[in-house]
This record gives sequence, C-alpha cells and structure tokens, in this order.
Amino acid sequence: MTKPMSGALARNAKPTIRPARPYFSSGPCAKPPGWSPDNLDTKVLGRSHRSGLGKQRLALAIDLMREMLELPDTHRIGIVPGSDTGAFEMAMWTMLGARGVTTLAWESFGEAWVTDAVKQLKLDPTVIRADYGALPDLGAVDWSTDVLFTWNGTTSGVRVPDAEWIPADREGLSFADATSAVFAYRIDWAKIDVATFSWQKVLGGEGGHGVLILGPRAVERLESFTPDRPLPKVFRLVSKGKVAEGVFRGETINTPSMLAVEDAIVALEWAKGLGGLDALIARSSANAAALARIVEEREWLQHLAVDPASRSTTSVCLTLEGADEVRIKAIAKLLEAEDVAYDIAGYRDAPPGLRIWCGATVDTADIEALGPWLDWAWEQTK
Ligand SMILES: Cc1ncc(COP(=O)(O)O)c(C=O)c1O
Repeated sequence: MTKPMSGALARNAKPTIRPARPYFSSGPCAKPPGWSPDNLDTKVLGRSHRSGLGKQRLALAIDLMREMLELPDTHRIGIVPGSDTGAFEMAMWTMLGARGVTTLAWESFGEAWVTDAVKQLKLDPTVIRADYGALPDLGAVDWSTDVLFTWNGTTSGVRVPDAEWIPADREGLSFADATSAVFAYRIDWAKIDVATFSWQKVLGGEGGHGVLILGPRAVERLESFTPDRPLPKVFRLVSKGKVAEGVFRGETINTPSMLAVEDAIVALEWAKGLGGLDALIARSSANAAALARIVEEREWLQHLAVDPASRSTTSVCLTLEGADEVRIKAIAKLLEAEDVAYDIAGYRDAPPGLRIWCGATVDTADIEALGPWLDWAWEQTK
C-alpha cells in the first residue's frame, strides 16, 4: 500500500512543540487531565476499610463504576485483590472445570490464561490462537464449553470488534479479560458472564485492585459447582453455598488500598463530569484516529493490527519498517529523554514496535504533537 508523503523535507528538524503530557504508557496509563494528589479525598486514610466511612467510599467507587460502565442490575460488580490478574484468576479457579474449556489467544495476556488453564489447572482446554496482529476465527468457538478471551489484547493492539459472535443461548460461560477495553468500547453485558479489569488502564487509576463483574449465570455456577482444587482465601467468593454478596457492596475479602480507592473515585468523577461512557469512548476514538492519521502519512509506519474493525483504540501497536528491537529501544529512549513520550516501546513478547496508549485520559493534541517527534527519532536512529 502506498501512502501520501507529507512534510518529508522537514523531518530532520527537531520539532519545537512537545506533547503537554508525555504519558503514553499502556499501563499504568496517564492520569486524567488536571489530576493532582490535592484532589484526593483523604478523610478515610488511616481509618479501617470496615468503618462506616470506609464502606461508604468503597460502595461509592462501586456505584460510580456501575454508572460509568452502564452495567445492568443483572450483573454484580466488586473490588478484589491482585489487579486484573487476580480478578481473572479468581474467576478461573472458582468456576472452571464444570464443563469443557476453550481459551482464545492472540497476544501475551490471552496466552497467560492459556498457561493457567493448561499448566496450572490442567483442564486440557481447546486452544484457538492467532499471531500478533490478527484475530482468530471467532466463528470456530464451541459455546457448549466455557470460553476465555481478552477483549482488547494490549500487547498486539487487536480487540474483538463486538460481542455479536457470542450467542445469547450459549451453554458455557463467557469470561472476558476486559482490562484495556472497559470504558473504551460498548460492551453488550447480556453476552458477558464474567468480566475483569483494573483501574490503571482507561481510568488512569492506580494498580493493586481488580474489579470482578459477574452475570447471573456466573453466580449460578459459583453456587452449584465446587471445584476439586484448593482455593486460597483471596479466591473464595462463596460462603455456605451462597455467593459472598458483601464483596459486591464493598466488603472486600481482605484489606484494600483506600488511597487507590480514592484515586479511582477521582477518575470516575472526572469521567462522570465529561458525560460518562459515550464521552470516554469518544476521547479514545479521537486519539486513535489522530494516531491513524500519523500512520497514514508515513511510508515507514504501519499498524500491527491488520484489520481496522478489530484494531484497538486504546493500546495502539505500530511497526516501523525494518526496525529491530535495538532501534525501537533507541527511539523510545530518545523520546523519553526529550520528555516527549514515556514508555512507548512495544511489549517484550510482541514483534518489535511502538505501543502508544490512546485511552480517554490522553489528550488528542498530545497524540497529534507526537507525529513530528516520531519523524525526528526515526531520522536520528538511521
Ligand atoms: C489484557 C491484559 N490482561 C491482563 C493484564 C494484567 O493486568 P494487571 O497487571 O492489572 O494484573 C494486562 C496488563 O497490561 C492486560 O493488558
């Protein structure tokens, strides 16, 4: 594919305009615009998370997440230990084994859940894979099994386009690792039995806690199936045969970081002030579109995700013609040293390239300002 050339003559010159906020890491991600530690409500710090105030703040975080996700009443939402990994593994360890399992993988995190299912849980799952940059055949999934997938593959920038491929009358449960997807895409919650995420992605919150969303069929599974494996306390979601409802009201299994909770509340209130889910999606889409224009204008730059329909609008992964890991590292280092872009080298297991976070906390003007700097770093490393 040939692309229009633009500004070729000016590309050796060092640009003068820097992104105002050079935070393009794919997790932890940029804080919301205007974020300051002074905006954190600190009244609960130093208090018990089981005090009236502690529970009230945890419940507020849960209520705001439900509102910003537009999560229906059919689904429970709670805060759990261990970030997204903790939440997803909690779901795997407590619910898998009742029927066959299918795991989908097209990048490193999907592959992590394959490893869990095969090597740790020894479930002998059907594994459906695709290479970095592509999506596997979603139509090949056997929905009589439980199905595990990553909504947005953060390390390849490939996501599922929607939930159309998940049947309404599925027999198995759908498990979505949705950590860099929630707040960036509309999710048809009727199709999702389990979803997990963490605050440090699209919300720009802090790491530490996972969020676990359970649909009614997942709750039914928890209450009707006892897995034949030991469960550590941090995974125990069932008490006396019933799902631990307190978890979904803010009675956490163990001690959370109330500082991280307060920070999440700040991010969620920012999201609410913007106009909620639609506004978050619009910001992320505008960022990804601005980056796509930069790619379009440069012969040497390509998206790793081949099909635009399944191209991420959060973790956008780019390949640079012929650039190996050494050159990629050099480019990322140069841009970091210039305070232009932090942490944009692709993930260690992915093909060499750059990964630029386009989630809602990033400003479009900052993405736009990156273009000339990419040209400059490209020339500098020739
Ligand atoms: C898709 C996906 N799943 C899981 C993880 C692990 O998340 P955490 O560090 O919150 O456990 C990440 C982190 O980048 C991710 O992008």
